This record gives sequence, C-alpha cells and structure tokens, in this order.
Amino acid sequence: MSDIAIPADPSPLHSSIVTEVARRRTFAIISHPDAGKTTLTEKLLLFGGAINLAGQVKAKGERRNTRSDWMKIERDRGISVVTSVMTFEFEGLVFNLLDTPGHEDFSEDTYRTLTAVDSAVMVIDAAKGIEARTRKLFEVCRLRDIPIITFINKMDRESRDTFDLLDEIEKTLALDTTPMTWPVGRGRDFLGTYDIGTGGIRLLEGGGAKTGAAQQIDIAELAGRGNLDVAEVKEELALVSEACKPFDLEAFREGHLTPVYFGSALRNFGVGDLLEGLGKFAPPPRAQDSNLRKVEADEKGMTAFVFKIQANMDPNHRDRIAFARLCSGKLTRGMKAKLVRTGKNMSLSSPQFFFAQDRALADEAFAGDVVGIPNHGTLRIGDTLSEGEDITFVGVPSFAPEIVRRVRLKDAMKAKKLKEALQQMSEEGVVQVFRPRDGAPALVGVVGSLQLDVLKARLDAEYQLPVDFEVSEFQLARWISSDDPKKLNAFVAANGSGVADDVDGDPVYLAKNEFYLGYTRERAEGIVFSAIKDVK
Ligand code: G4P
Repeated sequence: MSDIAIPADPSPLHSSIVTEVARRRTFAIISHPDAGKTTLTEKLLLFGGAINLAGQVKAKGERRNTRSDWMKIERDRGISVVTSVMTFEFEGLVFNLLDTPGHEDFSEDTYRTLTAVDSAVMVIDAAKGIEARTRKLFEVCRLRDIPIITFINKMDRESRDTFDLLDEIEKTLALDTTPMTWPVGRGRDFLGTYDIGTGGIRLLEGGGAKTGAAQQIDIAELAGRGNLDVAEVKEELALVSEACKPFDLEAFREGHLTPVYFGSALRNFGVGDLLEGLGKFAPPPRAQDSNLRKVEADEKGMTAFVFKIQANMDPNHRDRIAFARLCSGKLTRGMKAKLVRTGKNMSLSSPQFFFAQDRALADEAFAGDVVGIPNHGTLRIGDTLSEGEDITFVGVPSFAPEIVRRVRLKDAMKAKKLKEALQQMSEEGVVQVFRPRDGAPALVGVVGSLQLDVLKARLDAEYQLPVDFEVSEFQLARWISSDDPKKLNAFVAANGSGVADDVDGDPVYLAKNEFYLGYTRERAEGIVFSAIKDVK
C-alpha cells in the first residue's frame, strides 16, 4: 500500500517514520452545500470509531451554546465557519480528515486547507451533478494535481442517469472517470451496488453499512424486487465494461482520473467502499515544495507549515490555535523547532490532535498529520517550522479580495489599538489588511462578506473596538512584482495613492474597478499583477 521504499539499513527512528508516514492518508471533502458532506463525515468518523453517535459533527442544540461569542455568527446563520481536522484509524491506517467550511464566503480558508491535503473526496448529489462550488473547489485541487475520489451521494433518492453523471464529470472537469461500483436500480428502486472489481453485489438492506466482501448474487436473483429492470442493469454493466476506462492508479495519483463510488451517506451505504478505496488508492503524504528543494515526507527532520489559525475555539481556553501540517519527520511533544520566518526557536510543549469535537495532547505526530499548536500570536499563516534546515514551504496562497472596505472606528482615539488588532487579524487570515503608502487609513479586503461580520464581531468582543465598514474608492487589489526592481520602484512612485503594503510589506496595487486595473496593467510594462500570492 505504501509508495515509500524502506531504506536498506534504517535507524530505528527513521524506520518508524517510514512506517508511520506510509499509513497516513490526509484528505478533505469537497462539495457544494447540501450534497451531504456533513453526513458523510459523520459516517466516516463512525467507521473509524472516532465518535460513538452520528450527529456530532454538526453540533446542534445545547452544545452549540457552549461555543464562544464570536461564533454567534455561525450559530445565527447555521453555517460552519470553523475549519477543523478529525483524525481516525481504520484497518491500520490513520486518516486525517480536514474539514472545510461549507459556506462560500469562507473560500479563502477552504482553499488554504486544500494545500494541506494529499487527496480529496468529491461528494456529488446524484440528482444535481456537478454544482458551482464543487467545480470551484475542484479547480483549486487541480492547481496542485490533488487526486480526487468521487462519491455520488443520495442514491436512495431520485437521481440522474448514471452515465450522464459520469459524462458530466468528464466534460465539465476534464477528468476521466472509472466507476468502481455501479448502482443497481435508482431512486425508490435503488437496491444496492454492483462491485465492478469483484462482481459482487452489496444490498442496501442487510449488511450494506459494513465493509467486507459484497455478496455473490446474480443480478437475475433480484428480479421482482420493486420495479427493477434486470435486463436494463445487465445492459448497463455490459456498457460499463466496454466503454469505461479501467482504473489506472498512476492517472489517479496524477489527478487525471477519478474512481467513482455510489452510495447514500444518510443510509450509511457505500461509505465503507469509499473508505477502503481511500486506504488503497489515496497517496500517503506527498513531498512538499520548499524555497530550496522538495522535502520528502519520510525525511528525519521534522518540518511543518501553518495553513490555518483559529482563535477561541473553546471558551475555556482563550488561546489561538495554529493548525500545522507536518511535511516530514516526527514531532514529539516538548521538542523545539525553529520558526523560520523569525529565526527563533519555539517549544512545542502542547501540540494537539482533534477528534470531532474533542482534542487531546499529541505526544507524537508524523508527516501527514495535522496538529494544533496553541500560541499567542507568534505563528502566522504560511509559517514554516523546522527542526533543522532553514527552509520555507511555498504554495500556501492568499487570494485577492473580492470586497475592499475602509474600517471606520467609532472612537477615533483608538486608532493605534485598531492598527494592532488589524495586524493580528490579518496574520490569522481573518481578513487582509492593506496600508496605503500615502498614509491614508488602512483598508481591509475579504473574499466573502461573512468575513467582515466575523471581523466586526471579533474587534468588538476581543478588542472592545466597535467599527463600521465604508465603501472605499478602491474595489480591487492585486499583488505587484517585477524582475526589475527599478521598474517596480518607478511604478510605485507613479501610482503613490494606489499602492499599499500587505501584512508582509509586499506591494499591492489598488484599483477603482476592472477598467482602471486593465488600463494600468496595459501601460505598466514589466510589472506582474497577481490575484494570488504565495504566503511566505
Ligand atoms: P452538507 O454538509 O454538504 O451541506 O450536507 P448535509 O450532510 O448537511 O446534508 C444535506 C441534507 O441532505 C440533509 O438533510 C441530509 O440529511 C441529507 N442527506 C445527506 N446524505 C443523504 C443521502 O444519502 N440520502 C438522502 N436522502 N439525504 C441525504 P436536511 O433535511 O437538509 O438536514 P437534516 O435536518 O437532516 O440535518
């Protein structure tokens, strides 16, 4: 199952790293809201024994009230703002499921989370096919060639023609498909799935929830059940074996082909097949690009990068948690690691693992794992932690904001405090802050308007800073760079009031609208305008 060769004479530490890394599967679920991501997550966690009762993922009722204040927004709107990670074991493998917020306003967080996974499960509603958000998230996965496993959900309800669904995936996503199972009957007559590899049938009624071999029944034996048209199913299966591409592990790992499973998360059907597929085909932790070289997961030195900061997850612990993805080696509780950005060592005294709503101290973790590191603002998104070498991981992106606003402080005396608070919020990735070079008040940029609500609520609750947002003369922001520093300096000098610094001091061009942006871009020879920035 492992791709990682065990060296001839490994040290005990190295050999344990190699073994542990090979059993990690770190993945996310991508889907359009309502396709069934939460339900599937619950069922996956049930398989892994991480939770006892389904229904804990989407906290409801009482338990929600125990969350901290600013999460009120989440409560009021009934959406999940938090990106979290859930770890569970199944059949000897360790699965790290990185949850992504379903609401489109939090796409920036979601995108960053996708930089921390090695594969993704794409959940599609069988009645709806590929929807807008699935497509957008898929495109982010494609940027990094993340392998995708497809789960076509809600087969217990009226669904679209199976070939149509596969065809849609192939055409709209330019992704080859290989069905691994095939539905027997649809909608009210959905009886189960045919396992294309073994020829067995798994029935919805009776044992469908469990993994293990499907029953060897002839489809003809199912005649007479509901309105099942046995001849039609046989015809479909003949067509599948003739027309569908056989599964090709390499094409899948390169992100060109997706194995497709059919099921019903609600009925806990097909989830075991999916999990087995993940274990068998999804890659163990991949090598990660750094500024100097590719870092292999089974190297001895511990390295990690921060892709997410979460404040106040638990009102009893008023701390900030930086979520770090281990890229290589082994993390041991109490070890020291260098925060490469500052050159200072930090002690990892209480790294944490997350299990659905729970967390526990992590005594050790390996490449592929995600640990939460409590801190008071030391860690920023994109930071690299390293046990040895001074390397910086690349590829944790910032996205150009879609909404730009000026923050209006109700009490003008608190400008300094606001500046500090905004700096903190931007380091956490809540908003982006742009400080115009001409000294005008700072602007904030967000990908979705909900981020503004979170910013407002947090400034009020945590910093006692009531604010409003005003429409600014600028609507767009683009990072600017040039191979020739002189050209960049000349551009900055010529566009003084339209240039700002981001949180890292990198220059950003602010434009009134698309027209101005296009106009400036055409005339700015040698300047690159970018809508995505890799956080360094
Ligand atoms: P999301 O996280 O992707 O937004 O979806 P979620 O799991 O919350 O599912 C959305 C709705 O679809 C839920 O119903 C859920 O019960 C239903 N659902 C999920 N999987 C299946 C399935 O396999 N078959 C059927 N028939 N329904 C499914 P809801 O009524 O909106 O929410 P709830 O009140 O049940 O929580």
